[in-house]
Amino acid sequence: MNKLTVKDVSVQGKNILVRVDFNVPLNEEGKVIDDTKIRASLPTLDCLLAKGARVIIVSHLGRPKGKVVEALRMDPVARRLAQLLGRTVEKCDFITGPEVDDALHNLSPGALLMLENVRFDPREEKNDPGFACELARLADLYVNDAFGTAHRAHASTSGVAAYLPAVAGLLMDKEMSYLNKSREKPLFPLVVILGGKKVADKIGVIRHFLPCDCTLLLGGVMANTFLKARGFSMGDSLCEDDKLDMAREILEEAERSPAKLLLPLDVFIVEKLQRDSAHQVKSVDDIPSGWSAVDVGPKTLQSFQEAIADAKMILWNGPLGAYEFPPFHWGTEMVARAVAKSDAESIIGGGDIVAALEKLDLSGQVTHISTGGGAVLDFWKGKDLPGLSVLQDRTKSGVNVKG
Ligand code: 3PG
Repeated sequence: MNKLTVKDVSVQGKNILVRVDFNVPLNEEGKVIDDTKIRASLPTLDCLLAKGARVIIVSHLGRPKGKVVEALRMDPVARRLAQLLGRTVEKCDFITGPEVDDALHNLSPGALLMLENVRFDPREEKNDPGFACELARLADLYVNDAFGTAHRAHASTSGVAAYLPAVAGLLMDKEMSYLNKSREKPLFPLVVILGGKKVADKIGVIRHFLPCDCTLLLGGVMANTFLKARGFSMGDSLCEDDKLDMAREILEEAERSPAKLLLPLDVFIVEKLQRDSAHQVKSVDDIPSGWSAVDVGPKTLQSFQEAIADAKMILWNGPLGAYEFPPFHWGTEMVARAVAKSDAESIIGGGDIVAALEKLDLSGQVTHISTGGGAVLDFWKGKDLPGLSVLQDRTKSGVNVKG
């Protein structure tokens, strides 16, 4: 990556504002149930603490829409971080203001302070310059390690960099080194697997890869929409009828492009989607009315497995069936096994697939599991990530840390 990182700066005794993506799932008792994102930022925090910085952590949690939501306070996250680091993490109930100034005044070098959920302030998502300035006032240097939020141009992810020297954290650096390769120097044969519900979320990714000699494997509800656009009667399957024209355009573009677009050949169908509901396998030209496609079928799986077995690089986002209703996690899990078995470089983004790999104990058999969902998709669409583009380039000489 051509951005400066925390390794390039001297931070002894300085206040460092670190934006992390600690948007983690909590259970009903408010306990963190998956700490992957917290663990992923430990190298950056350890590095800054070892260099004697005062570390001020800022993150969002959920979507409180600019209001204080008690269930979305950062306290459980601060407690989990303290356990993982094996040291105290001070938690402040405010984001900026005199209470934060006091807490900072009492913070020693090599100590951490976690601010309150930054999305409690309505100015965060508006990228309000006044709020960005208030955040910047707390520190001498800004570090963005929140790869999962790098596609958002918010005050704490991009605005603040207008007022402070800004460098990348080590997670951001690691994510970008894999993702840059996937976009700028992909290995061929390249296979791109896309699933999930919404065509609109993935359309840009499909368009980005159509001009290359790759194979796109489509599953999930999104594939139902493409199948309907191709003229198949999809029974009662979930489809985005308002996206049929968009899907038709893509199918026409695919005809003229070097990329191969593989849609399901057969599917599992049910009358009512629930766990363990009675099901049949049908060819996509034989779906009766009253039935819905909920997973890819065995012939589809075989065609996907063949493409995956030949691949040198595999990119994947989105489940291929109704993953949360077993046994319709079958297609996603079988494809996960095929990806794990292949020698290809594999880059996986999005919570559902990551959970599938973890459940099967296959996480160690893929090249890179990203902490980002939307950020990975935006990157694969060819977009700039605002949280990354504001950081200082390596080519510029040095970095000035305020104070
Ligand atoms: C994520 O979980 O994908 C990131 O934290 C971004 O969250 P957001 O979609 O609410 O911006």
